Amino acid sequence: MAVYRVGVIGCGRKGTAHARAYALNPATEVVAAADTDSENLGLFCERFGAPGYSDYREMLRRERIDIAVPILPVSVNPDVVVGCAEMGVRAIACEKPIAASLSDADRMVEACQERGIKLAAGDLDRNFREYWQARRMIEDSAIGDVVSVNMLKGGITEMSGGGCQLFSLVRMFAFDAEAEWVIGWVSGDPWSDHDQGVGGYIRFENGIECYMHRDFNARSGIEVLGTKGVFYCDGSYMEIWQAREGAVRPTMSDLVKVEGVFPETSLWEGSGTYDADGWRYPGRRNIATAQSIVDALEQDTEPTGSGENGRKVLELAIAMRESHRRGRVPVRLPLEDRSLRVYPHEGRWLNKKDVYGREWYAEAIGGAVRE
Ligand SMILES: NC(=O)c1ccc[n+]([C@@H]2O[C@H](COP(=O)([O-])OP(=O)(O)OC[C@H]3O[C@@H](n4cnc5c(N)ncnc54)[C@H](O)[C@@H]3O)[C@@H](O)[C@H]2O)c1
Repeated sequence: MAVYRVGVIGCGRKGTAHARAYALNPATEVVAAADTDSENLGLFCERFGAPGYSDYREMLRRERIDIAVPILPVSVNPDVVVGCAEMGVRAIACEKPIAASLSDADRMVEACQERGIKLAAGDLDRNFREYWQARRMIEDSAIGDVVSVNMLKGGITEMSGGGCQLFSLVRMFAFDAEAEWVIGWVSGDPWSDHDQGVGGYIRFENGIECYMHRDFNARSGIEVLGTKGVFYCDGSYMEIWQAREGAVRPTMSDLVKVEGVFPETSLWEGSGTYDADGWRYPGRRNIATAQSIVDALEQDTEPTGSGENGRKVLELAIAMRESHRRGRVPVRLPLEDRSLRVYPHEGRWLNKKDVYGREWYAEAIGGAVRE
C-alpha cells in the first residue's frame, strides 16, 4: 500500500485531531501544515515535526501533497477547497458543514468531480464502520424491506452545523437515494438565514420515508424500520431485532434481538483518554474518517462521507426551511435557487479563538497533548 502525503490546512482544535488520526494510519503521513495564525501553526509544527506555511498554496506548490485536509471555519472553506482542487491533489478531506450556500457547495463538488479528485466533507458518524456493517446486513434483508428511517435525535439547534450528521445518517439508511420532496418546520424564525433546529419529513425516490424529529426526546438516535425487523442505534450502541418465523404483521412482542452482531463497547470507547505517547485519542470516528479517504483512493470509490453527501444534506436542511417559509408545503428537490443558505453558528463560521477568546482557546488546543 502507498503512503499518502497529507497536508493539513487549519491547525486548530479539530485540525489537530484529524492530523493525529492520519499520523496513526500506516497509509498516511502528515508531511506539512498551513495556517494564517502563526501561533496555532507553530504549535502544530512542533507537535507533528512538520514544516509550516502561512499560505496553503505555497505548501501545495512545495510539498507534493496527495491528501489536502482543510479543517477551517466554514466562511473560508469553499474558496480553500476549490483552491486545492485547482492546484492539483488526489483527495481533499474538509470538515462539515461543507458551506453556507448551495452555490458554494456546488462549485466545491464540481471543481473536484471535473478533476477526478476525491472530496470528503466531515468527520461524520456515517463514517463509522459499524454503520456500514449494519447497512450491509439491511441490504442483505436482515430486517426485510426498509419502510422508514426515524431520526429520533432532535435537530434541535442546528439544521446544518450538527444537523448534517443526522441527515447524513438518514441518507445512508435510505441507501443514498435521491430525495424527491420534503416538508419541514424550524424551531425559530423561518426567514432567518442563521442555523437553528429543524424537523420534518423526507420522501426518497425509492419509496423510503424519513421522519425527522426536531426536539430532544428520551429515545435519542436512529431507527430503521423494515417489514421484518428493526435496526436501532442510540448514538453509541447498535441493535438489530428480527421478527419471529411466521409473524405476519409483527408487533413488538414478535421481535427478537440478534445477539453478537455489533461490538458491546460504545462507538465512543476511549474518546478523551490519553495514549502512552501523551496524545489525546482522536476517537474511533476520526480514525474511521481518515481511513475512509485511504479506502477511497485505494479502491477508487467515493469516500463514505463524500462532498456530494455534504451538498445533499445542506440541501435537505434548506428545503425543510423553505417548506416552512412557503407555509409548510411540500418542497421538491433539487432546489432551483442555489443562492439559498444557512450560516452556521459563529464558532463554526469564524476562528474559535476570535469567538471564544484566547484563554478558552489555549486550554482547548493545549489539551490535545497531555502536559
Ligand atoms: N465533525 C466534527 O465533529 C467537528 C468537530 C469540531 C469542529 N468541526 C468543524 O471543523 C472546522 C474547524 O473547527 P475547529 O474547532 O478546528 O476551529 P478552530 O478555530 O480551532 O481552527 C480553525 C483554524 O483554521 C485557521 N484558518 C482560518 N482561516 C484560514 C485560512 N484561510 N488558511 C489557513 N488557515 C486558516 C485558523 O487560524 C485556525 O487555526 C469547523 O468547520 C467546524 O464546524 C467538526
